[in-house]
Amino acid sequence: MRLTDDERRMRDGEQGEAVQAAMDLLIRYGEVLGAERLVDTDNVCGANIFGPRQMQLCGHAGPDAVFSEFSLDSPKPVEITPMRAQSYQLIGPMDTRHWQVQGLSQEAHDAIEESESYSARHGIHLMNTCTPYQVGNVPVKGEHCAWMESSAVVYVNSVLGARTNVEGRESAAAAMLTGKIPYWGYHLAENRFGSHLVEVAEPVHSSLDWGLLGYYVGELVQEGVPVLDGITEVPNLVKLKHFGAAAASSGGVEMYHIPGTTVEAGSVAEAFGPRRPVQTLRYGERERRQTYQQLNHTARDTDVDLVMIGCPHATLSQIRDVCRLVEGRRVHPDSALWVFTPRAIRQVAEQNGYARILRDAGALLMSDTCPAIGQFLPKGTRVIATDSAKQVHYLPAIMKVQGWFGSTEECVESALTGRWQGELR
Ligand code: F3S
Repeated sequence: MRLTDDERRMRDGEQGEAVQAAMDLLIRYGEVLGAERLVDTDNVCGANIFGPRQMQLCGHAGPDAVFSEFSLDSPKPVEITPMRAQSYQLIGPMDTRHWQVQGLSQEAHDAIEESESYSARHGIHLMNTCTPYQVGNVPVKGEHCAWMESSAVVYVNSVLGARTNVEGRESAAAAMLTGKIPYWGYHLAENRFGSHLVEVAEPVHSSLDWGLLGYYVGELVQEGVPVLDGITEVPNLVKLKHFGAAAASSGGVEMYHIPGTTVEAGSVAEAFGPRRPVQTLRYGERERRQTYQQLNHTARDTDVDLVMIGCPHATLSQIRDVCRLVEGRRVHPDSALWVFTPRAIRQVAEQNGYARILRDAGALLMSDTCPAIGQFLPKGTRVIATDSAKQVHYLPAIMKVQGWFGSTEECVESALTGRWQGELR
């Protein structure tokens, strides 16, 4: 790999052991990937909040040792210096307010809190969300980034035209310390053209429709770059969030084009550039129905123990919509309604009175985490319902529960009545 003078100095330890370990990691990683060089980045989203398990594995050697081992893949503890790049914490394991509802022990709470404050002291912004693009980190077209979190990567690549691959914790941490990332994959213009044409013959209106379409597309194109033709309405952020998250769950989609909507494709021809589609898919009524059945395949019992809204983390508009559905009513005593959002949005929701409406209805507005990442559910949960194709893809597998997928209205109604009555309309 070709290195600049600056990069060579980092590799040789002139900026300390942590930067040296990070540069060593990036060089090894880049060489495996076939990258010829690194590229500068000043926008990194990673995950460096740890709990008691990691502390124990490092023999209580302190947070530098934990960061070295788990974020830099360095068994030798090095002193971690402040992050060079603008660095952001993605979603973590704990809601700092509702951690007891999560079932966390005091010991776990204290360890996670200590880890958070260690990150903050090293210059990592505590965004604590899987949707940094909702709360101030909005990269521009062509900006080289190093982000983890597949649903966020597919959003910023496709909708905003920023450039990132799905990084791992270690490569993102190394990018934070050095401001560098291997120049390969979606950093290169030639890899950003379409690979599959998807003819959308079915109207796509609601967030549920976009989740279904995303799940269908992801499963068939896997790591390809789908180009959607036939979209007749401009989707908003919430719909694109659901689409991308679903496509990145059933497959490994990191980039897509919707000609006329996403930033790098004014037309189908522009989306494909010099490439020809390797395959043409058609999404119609039959495909929509099959995808719906597939997403509901784990569900049998209609008594719903938990409704989860906010995967990816909910916007203020989604919170308002849930408020309108629950205002003046109460969540069923045998069910629970949890809404997840970034901590910055929770604060606005408090000021706007939305959090109070949810509390009055017996629902909970949570931030910083989600059940799939934090691996928690209300005690005894057997059946969940969610309006997120991504969440229903992962949660039944991770937590061994049944999962219903439906519209936000159906999900909220099932929390209020305790029973699932959703169907595909
Ligand atoms: Fe975010 Fe958790 Fe969903 S990380 S995208 S809310 S599975």
